Amino acid sequence: MPSNKDIDWAELRTAARQAARMAYAPYSDYYVGAAGLTDDGRIVSGCNVENASYGLTLCAECSMVSDLHRSGGGRLVAVAVTGPDGNPITPCGRCRQLLVEAGGPDCIVNEDDTVSALLPGAFEFPAGSTEACPL
Ligand code: THU
Repeated sequence: MPSNKDIDWAELRTAARQAARMAYAPYSDYYVGAAGLTDDGRIVSGCNVENASYGLTLCAECSMVSDLHRSGGGRLVAVAVTGPDGNPITPCGRCRQLLVEAGGPDCIVNEDDTVSALLPGAFEFPAGSTEACPL
């Protein structure tokens, strides 16, 4: 697992910025890109995709997690979320929970934070309860 100083944050921010420029955000005009480094060295990315039924909007982090699975799975070790200018954007509450699942508490976000700092006491599925219901 790379430590923070080994992560090429400039590269991740560039990937996030490029993704943000592809966003579909005609309702908010708020363009977001997310880029993640995986534990096997891939870079995955996504942008927000809005919908006329506002609650259906997909955040950039949702698209990035989809790209994570589409491109081979694994875990996120570091994530940059930015606007099209490359400035950092902090993930919304729902996306913090997505990052718990796809990266875990030690995943680094926007260089200065971890998922556990952004979402203390996060819900994780209790170990051992993935068996089929015995009743
Ligand atoms: N948005 C994201 O893509 N990620 C976040 O973490 C925060 C919010 C998007 C959703 C919506 O399209 C726009 O930003 C305004 O909320």
